[in-house]
Amino acid sequence: MISGPELKGERIELRKLTLSDASDIHRNLQDKAIIKWTMHIPWPYKMQDAVKFIRKTHHGIRKKTNFTFGIVYKETSRVIGVIRIGDIDWKNKNAEIGYWLGKKYWGRGLASEAVRLILKFAFEKLKLHKVYAGLFEENIASRKVLEKCGFRLEGTIRECRFRYKKWHNELRFGILESEYKMNTSEYE
Ligand SMILES: CC(C)(COP(=O)(O)OP(=O)(O)OC[C@H]1O[C@@H](n2cnc3c(N)ncnc32)[C@H](O)[C@@H]1OP(=O)(O)O)[C@@H](O)C(=O)NCCC(=O)NCCS
Repeated sequence: MISGPELKGERIELRKLTLSDASDIHRNLQDKAIIKWTMHIPWPYKMQDAVKFIRKTHHGIRKKTNFTFGIVYKETSRVIGVIRIGDIDWKNKNAEIGYWLGKKYWGRGLASEAVRLILKFAFEKLKLHKVYAGLFEENIASRKVLEKCGFRLEGTIRECRFRYKKWHNELRFGILESEYKMNTSEYE
């Protein structure tokens, strides 16, 4: 694993998943509201899916193509969600992020905290030039998270996702290293 910077926030921290996190992941994914606007999470979600997923994350870390972290709620030390930076294109120094949180943790700014931490990892440790995210146009909460973290809307990819018997637009958001640096210097 590429180590540091410290991926510790105020209320959460990000760390590599272990097989002992499978039950937390399984429990938090027992709600269709979480799966609704994601692309790769199976439904119904079984314990075996969580175990397979965790093993896959270790492979991605070894290959340096996909860094997946558990979002750990510091108060309880439990994994309450997952965030990843994947599809890393080392030549062009860009990568995609994706994330989810257990429903009872929504609306407290925790996903925004996790996205800020993964941006720190992406730009300060992996030294990427750009990070992007693709989401269903209907996913208002995720759009808000990205906007709060300094991403800009780059475009709409029309009707490229088929779900619930209809076509959906994908919104593409991105943030450059220079924008990240400008935002973080504003916080200091
Ligand atoms: C997207 C997700 C991670 C957001 O998590 P979260 O911790 O609730 O996010 P935050 O609290 O940091 O920010 C969410 C923002 O969206 C707002 N929001 C949520 N639903 C909204 C709605 N229907 N209309 C308007 N605003 C909405 C919240 O009020 C909040 O904004 P605020 O901080 O200005 O009040 C969570 O909803 C989730 O896991 N969804 C399912 C998986 C998913 O969609 N992943 C992303 C795939 S691209």
